Amino acid sequence: MNRRAQHTDWDHVWIGADLATMRAGAEPYGVMRDAALAVKGERIAWIGTAIEARGRVGQRSIPVHDATGLWITPGLIDCHTHLVYGGNRAAEFEQRLLGVSYEQIARAGGGIQSTVEATRTAGHDALLAAALLRARRLSAEGVTTLEIKSGYGLDLNTEARMLTVARELGTRLPITVRTSFLGLHAVPRELAADRQAFVDRVSGPWLEAIASARLADAVDAFCDSIAFKLQETEQYLRAAQALRLPIHLHAGQFSDIGAARLAAQFGALSADHLEYVDEAAIQALAQAGTVAVLLPGAYYTLRQTHPPPVSLLRQAGVPMAVSTDNNPGTSPCGSILLMLNMACTLFGLTAEEALAGVTSVAAQALGLASDRGTLEVGKRADLALWRIGQPAELSYSFGSNPCAGIVQAGTVHRWSELEPQGGREQVGPIGEEVP
Ligand code: NIG
Ligand code: FE
Repeated sequence: MNRRAQHTDWDHVWIGADLATMRAGAEPYGVMRDAALAVKGERIAWIGTAIEARGRVGQRSIPVHDATGLWITPGLIDCHTHLVYGGNRAAEFEQRLLGVSYEQIARAGGGIQSTVEATRTAGHDALLAAALLRARRLSAEGVTTLEIKSGYGLDLNTEARMLTVARELGTRLPITVRTSFLGLHAVPRELAADRQAFVDRVSGPWLEAIASARLADAVDAFCDSIAFKLQETEQYLRAAQALRLPIHLHAGQFSDIGAARLAAQFGALSADHLEYVDEAAIQALAQAGTVAVLLPGAYYTLRQTHPPPVSLLRQAGVPMAVSTDNNPGTSPCGSILLMLNMACTLFGLTAEEALAGVTSVAAQALGLASDRGTLEVGKRADLALWRIGQPAELSYSFGSNPCAGIVQAGTVHRWSELEPQGGREQVGPIGEEVP
């Protein structure tokens, strides 16, 4: 007989876990020890003590998972990636090791342009296959929500193909995908002599086509000395605003040309990178409720030496998210957990801030805070289960993956099936159903 059909209150309950709920409050990490969490459908239905849960379950037939020795956090959210692309840039890595800078490579027509060539020639299936591998790695580290940008097409067809592939990932994996049309990433070679024509096209017919096909949940632009100017970016953001598309902005990665302030002016969901940003712009971000998305993988890859002003951001009350920035040029990074470690060691975040940066604050950066990012009754049942002794271990160790499994929209996925190669042996208990 189907045991699940007999009971209507809960579909699953995990009993005996320690929870890092990431709710703001008295306890660091919103910790609840020896706790229990129940889900019904796609939502968290109940949170309480293990003792109370055992009483409630009683004789009823609910799939009960013994979660003793496990920590449960909200499913992780990687809120800034360029995960769909063709080829890779290992050869440029070798050039940079010989002393050529990222900017020099970009100005010489390599960098983003070389990925544009590779992405234009890759078909839908090749793009999807490569992106699936990358996304599976993140999923195996507890990621249940993933933002993916376009920006390596620079023509309408390829931009649309990238976003279509990104959407498709969300149907193939236990991951919610949020897409951003990164219309202004670089000027394509064919319009190098007339950048205004490109900005006009992106801000006009292309944006309209992307929006009417519902391919993008938001927009993004690269506003920096080696990319797009303030006025060009403003034109694009105005068009996006008219279409009611939320805004992210690459701001202050290489220099401060006022991009962060522009993000605040437009009430952007997030301003990303922010290595170079002044105090007035930080105040403006705080006022606007814009999230600062910190990207230590790009900072590390480019061997930058000017970290984002974390103490000023903290003092001003700007929420800080952390993300992989997964991309072939500046952050060929398949590990969100490594980013937690780098956010602490390179940027000076606390371990708790780093975890908030990939849960509650990352949800805010995607405009999803009312739906996910913390463990609370009514929120989406996106969970990550960990074999750790305390939440700081997620930031403390690197190069290892203590994720035991995930629950996505109420469905249980074990670590072994999330592995890119299709599964290794599981070690130890991971909250197996008990009779
Ligand atoms: O976030 N800054 C712009 N975009 C990417 C890099 C893109 C690339 O080099 O391919 C970033 O770092
Ligand atoms: Fe980026």
